[in-house]
Amino acid sequence: MNKLKWLIVLCFLNNVLASEPGKRIVVKLPFNDREEILSGMRKYLKITERMLREISTKNYSEVERLISKIEMDKDRLYRISKRENLSFMELAYRFHSVEVQNIKNAAKEKNQDKLILAISNFIGSCNHCHDRYQLIEWGGKDYPAAIPNKKFIDKYINLYKK
Ligand code: HEC
Repeated sequence: MNKLKWLIVLCFLNNVLASEPGKRIVVKLPFNDREEILSGMRKYLKITERMLREISTKNYSEVERLISKIEMDKDRLYRISKRENLSFMELAYRFHSVEVQNIKNAAKEKNQDKLILAISNFIGSCNHCHDRYQLIEWGGKDYPAAIPNKKFIDKYINLYKK
């Protein structure tokens, strides 16, 4: 398991660091938002490692608990809606809803095959996003995406009314 874990870590880092900056779409963000996202990313990596460990020992309730930490909810919807680029928002949305939900359902069903497929799709979507997007600090004063993107919010808000 340890070997597998490190392989996965290397795989991610390689992916994030090796992509050529010029080829990725730039998403500009205020300093604090960028820091917040990157710290979230480090958390996703930790959660992924832990889930892999728990999947290998078939500890399904722990997998469910871990994945629930990054589920889609109303607050997250609003946070994502301020990310400047609509296709980036959609990808983030898909990750936190579809990919996360697939893992949660498979863990609930205690279905190991389904769970392995779900976690591999989940990891695939990390890589997919890293290949496409780059985060750069917004240099100007008035950040244009400080207000939630209405089109994006309107599309999903009904699913997350509290
Ligand atoms: C919707 C897009 C998206 C998804 C999904 C995503 N990431 Fe990221 N991640 C990014 C972007 C953008 C960066 C910054 C890359 C850059 O600017 O070079 C990043 C950076 C990172 C970093 C580097 C953090 C740092 O401190 O610099 C790690 C680690 C990471 N992601 C892990 C993950 C893992 C693990 C997953 C999946 C479980 C994941 N990410 C899913 C977009 C995403």
